[in-house]
Amino acid sequence: ALKGVIFDLDGVLTDTAEDHYQAWQALADAHGLTFDREANHALKGVDRAGSLRLILEQTGKAVEPPKFEAMLAEKNATYVARLRGYSPANLFAGVERLFAALRAAGLKIGLASASRNARDVVARLGIADAFDFIADAGAVTHPKPAPDIFLACADGMGLSPDQCIGVEDARAGITAIHAAGMVAIGIGSEEALPDADIHVPAIGDLTLGQILSAEQETAA
Ligand code: G6P
Ligand code: MG
Repeated sequence: ALKGVIFDLDGVLTDTAEDHYQAWQALADAHGLTFDREANHALKGVDRAGSLRLILEQTGKAVEPPKFEAMLAEKNATYVARLRGYSPANLFAGVERLFAALRAAGLKIGLASASRNARDVVARLGIADAFDFIADAGAVTHPKPAPDIFLACADGMGLSPDQCIGVEDARAGITAIHAAGMVAIGIGSEEALPDADIHVPAIGDLTLGQILSAEQETAA
């Protein structure tokens, strides 16, 4: 039976996905790299170094390790500066209501974000205490699409993977949830997330009822 729901952060609970994009775009522009909003789709859910590798690949450009590290730091500085304006007003509509419904149903709530800034973001959003466990992106070996962070989160909540369901807005994240053996709820269109088990346009549209029936339909 379902015992816990594990959420991605960026693009699921708040619009940081846009800030990540803007920060990558600024880096790309400053260094003459090929990048745009379309190319950014492939970066969603992908960790910092993996994202830069993808951008460099697209441009067909290689950089030495010190330069690579400096570029990562530059992107993160831009991103962190954008986070300074974050407050509870940046929490997507409906998150608090959904969390309250999950709690009332006796379900645990976990966070499985690839972001090293995740703790800072949830603190700014005022929801740091809402989670039974926050998985540490820096502590897992393989980033999404590997299942590691979702498995670590289930484990941290004292649950087995088959007792959990995952919520994601990125293809790499949906793949990670499935690889962990969990049902995957996609925030976004079927076109954007073809592998998700169910789709809702935004987190505010997701109900406890949908989560429970998604779990039952896919349970063999
Ligand atoms: C999330 C976002 C990605 C971001 C990654 C790492 O998965 O969807 O766009 O690259 O986190 O974030 P960080 O804050 O550690 O650079
Ligand atoms: Mg995301």
